[in-house]
Amino acid sequence: MARKHNDPVQARSESNLSHDGRGVIKLNDRVYFVDGVLADEDVIFTPFHKKRGQFTGRLEEVINPSPDRVEPPCEYFGVCGGCSLQHLAPEAQIHFKAQTLKENLARIGKVKPHTWLEPLQDELWHYRRKARPGVKFVPKKGGVIIGFREKASSYITSLKSCLTLDKYISDLLPALHELFAASSIYNQVPQIEVAAADNTVALVVRHLAPFSAEDLDTMAAFAQKHKVQLFLQPGGLKTIHPHYPAEPEPLYYEIADYQLKLEFLPSDFLQVNAKVNEKMIAQAIEFLELSKEDAVLDLFCGLGNFTLPLAATGASVLGVEGEQSLVDRANHNAMLNNLPQARFDCANLHLKDAEKALPAEGFNKLLIDPPRSGAELIVDAYVPILKPELIVYVSCNPATLARDAATLVSKHGYVLEKAGAIDMFPHTAHVESIAVFRKTW
Ligand SMILES: C[S@@+](CC[C@H](N)C(=O)[O-])C[C@H]1O[C@@H](n2cnc3c(N)ncnc32)[C@H](O)[C@@H]1O
Repeated sequence: MARKHNDPVQARSESNLSHDGRGVIKLNDRVYFVDGVLADEDVIFTPFHKKRGQFTGRLEEVINPSPDRVEPPCEYFGVCGGCSLQHLAPEAQIHFKAQTLKENLARIGKVKPHTWLEPLQDELWHYRRKARPGVKFVPKKGGVIIGFREKASSYITSLKSCLTLDKYISDLLPALHELFAASSIYNQVPQIEVAAADNTVALVVRHLAPFSAEDLDTMAAFAQKHKVQLFLQPGGLKTIHPHYPAEPEPLYYEIADYQLKLEFLPSDFLQVNAKVNEKMIAQAIEFLELSKEDAVLDLFCGLGNFTLPLAATGASVLGVEGEQSLVDRANHNAMLNNLPQARFDCANLHLKDAEKALPAEGFNKLLIDPPRSGAELIVDAYVPILKPELIVYVSCNPATLARDAATLVSKHGYVLEKAGAIDMFPHTAHVESIAVFRKTW
């Protein structure tokens, strides 16, 4: 039988982690990526044979630990794929993220900011106000389980609590296991979506077969007892409807600095870490150097998370977003907060010719907060039309930020003034960042 791995060996890890937070070990002209290993550690690990173009390995023992190594507080750490860095001290985690940003900007973008910003960090635990745990019937694991995917596998970790999920939702996990285990379609519920608003918690239950009348009663009683809103989703996103209460009060979150209240639906995109989100908004506004004469274009605006605070400073703002339902919510939020200077439009900003759907003039400042794929076409084709004096780019993927930064700097003559990492997702290797570009001509 073919062997899947070699015998364990002792080795020293490199002084950097891989982009996804694994230790890097060079051995016999090969590079191994090993989960659980930190930088500059002596370890014993079992090298695995190449799989999907990569050598990996299993950590067996840490002989000489990094000074940044800490005891992971979560009992599921190492198995659950939700977190990958709990064994690294939080100060070192944000350092790793800042390094990843620096390395991406240098290697892909060939750019370096004039000033490196102090990284933003805040809530470290129970910060996730939005998540989509899987649900699965696994007889070998005792029935219905709920949790995030295991590392590098499609299995689900059975979580009875989670240190990164909103505390109220984490505390509900055991009761949710029981709820779905008792349902008549216990093997037809693949996922729930959870959203913690400032006023309440919402659960969206995706189901592949109809619930029985008894199930529906049990779920209503569950929602009433635990004071949550429960929605059902029998099909695509458009099928989401309230089950209990029949007419739920709108979910909302507040942005305290600007006394704003933003309503949202449980399936809407939401910045996951409320405290970090508030700091990020404050930073974006500071970097845009706003006065009442300014007109700001906010691309990929979602439900107005940046647009409305920008408008609250007195500037006039146009938010553009690809999902009409989010544009509707953004308009509603502008009305709710009495901000007529915030307007919204719907456009697909990844389409070739997207620039034709956008104003050619009238905005002197630009905020971009794109999805992971970045804003390649906007930066390439639209920025030279609008020529904004300042661009604040909020990114959830340093590689696409670096690519777009290269275009802004080398092709369009902008200067990268500032950049810094943001710890939106502590204990994961996910790097959020902010960068400021100034027109120099
Ligand atoms: C990272 S989120 C940022 C949302 C918002 N700025 C916030 O802070 O909540 C990216 C947004 O881009 C939108 N989006 C994704 N693809 C798009 C496209 N092709 N055209 C326009 N908007 C798009 C998503 O719907 C989402 O609202």
